[in-house]
Amino acid sequence: MSQAAFHYQGEDLWVEGVSLAELGATLGTPLYVYSTQALKANFQAYQLALKNQPSLIAYSVKAASNLAILHLLKEEGAGSDIVSGGELKRALQVGVDPQKIVFSGVGKTAEEMIQALKAGILMFNVESAPEMRLLAATARELGKKAPLALRVNPDVDPQTHPYIATGFRESKFGVPIEEALALYQEATADPYLEVVGLDCHIGSQLTSVSPFAAAAERLRALLARLAAVGVNIQLLDVGGGLGINYHGEEIPSPQELVQAFGELLAAYPGLRLILEPGRSIVGQAAVLLIKCLYNKVTPFKRFVITDGAMSDLIRPSLYGSYHEIKPVRAAGRPAAKVNVVGPICESGDFLAQDREIPLVESGEFLAVFGAGAYGFAMSSNYNSRPRPAEALVDGARFRVIRARETLEDLTRGETI
Ligand code: LLP
Repeated sequence: MSQAAFHYQGEDLWVEGVSLAELGATLGTPLYVYSTQALKANFQAYQLALKNQPSLIAYSVKAASNLAILHLLKEEGAGSDIVSGGELKRALQVGVDPQKIVFSGVGKTAEEMIQALKAGILMFNVESAPEMRLLAATARELGKKAPLALRVNPDVDPQTHPYIATGFRESKFGVPIEEALALYQEATADPYLEVVGLDCHIGSQLTSVSPFAAAAERLRALLARLAAVGVNIQLLDVGGGLGINYHGEEIPSPQELVQAFGELLAAYPGLRLILEPGRSIVGQAAVLLIKCLYNKVTPFKRFVITDGAMSDLIRPSLYGSYHEIKPVRAAGRPAAKVNVVGPICESGDFLAQDREIPLVESGEFLAVFGAGAYGFAMSSNYNSRPRPAEALVDGARFRVIRARETLEDLTRGETI
């Protein structure tokens, strides 16, 4: 996935044709900075991988849900993978064709089902028997037929962080693959349900295609059993999950991902393949720009205290994840082993620990890489901190795509 958009020109870090130091001085920090070029290149890698395959790339809105990003990807041809009524609203607001929207998630409410049925989405990815029955009842009240896939749990080990592994049989996601046949038969018999697809998503930040290949085998066996009893599957949704290189990981390409399903697709030439990539589209398309507030040196540790915190980027605290951090002005500095931390009142508030990085002075900027996916999207107002602004660079131009929150924003809706 492309990171070429972020590069040093001389000693200064640039995003495409915009200097990050200038951007930080103009817009303030913490600031998420996305590259149009990287977003497009990452999306186009999927398009290329699928050029000979009837398919839909449903961008997983949860990874980064800013309207400008959704709109940019829609213009490139993306649909949306959504998990809430809020994400449905975003997708529709930027003009995504409802027939390119798939709705995943274990806890859809009746209200969300109504919203999606009225919009006329392509498919509900149903994750349990009670959900399927509520969907049928809801469709019936609206006098509509709900298009559905069952999300099956293929029981494969995605070899990723336990919080983001979903394909284990003990996980809350999907229906056990052994129970799928009976549920599909129940769905086929229901006049308010229309079986259109089969879905699975085994986890996120996968760094090998072998778990996808293992899932493909299980799905293929299920498709054969479904065909034998006359259940007609037209859409095969295999979820998202392709990882990115945070710290030297070797990542398979979208092409290799598609190839993992090659035999299955050859056996069912009429199938339309749906992918739901999130991280691999936006992850490396943004940095979080932060500023050094203080260098704090104790006899035991050296801290770079920044204005970026776990409330802005929670991944290091929550998953112990690694994000590369580089000074925006490289100028031959000594490096030291530091903890890069934020102002929040808990020790879990760090962006890096025991990391050797070039030292910066107060007021200087640092860029946190690989911050585009699950970065702003997971940010919060913890410690009553306004959430960062987001900017989108395109060539030598940039624009603010989400204003920095104000102190007034923090108390909106509250009463004394
Ligand atoms: N489809 C479904 C049903 C999903 O649950 C997810 C992610 C995706 C697609 C997109 O997966 P991706 O292509 O981004 O791997 N907050 C965590 C990641 C959570 C992933 C949740 N589901 C993190 O920061 O690592």
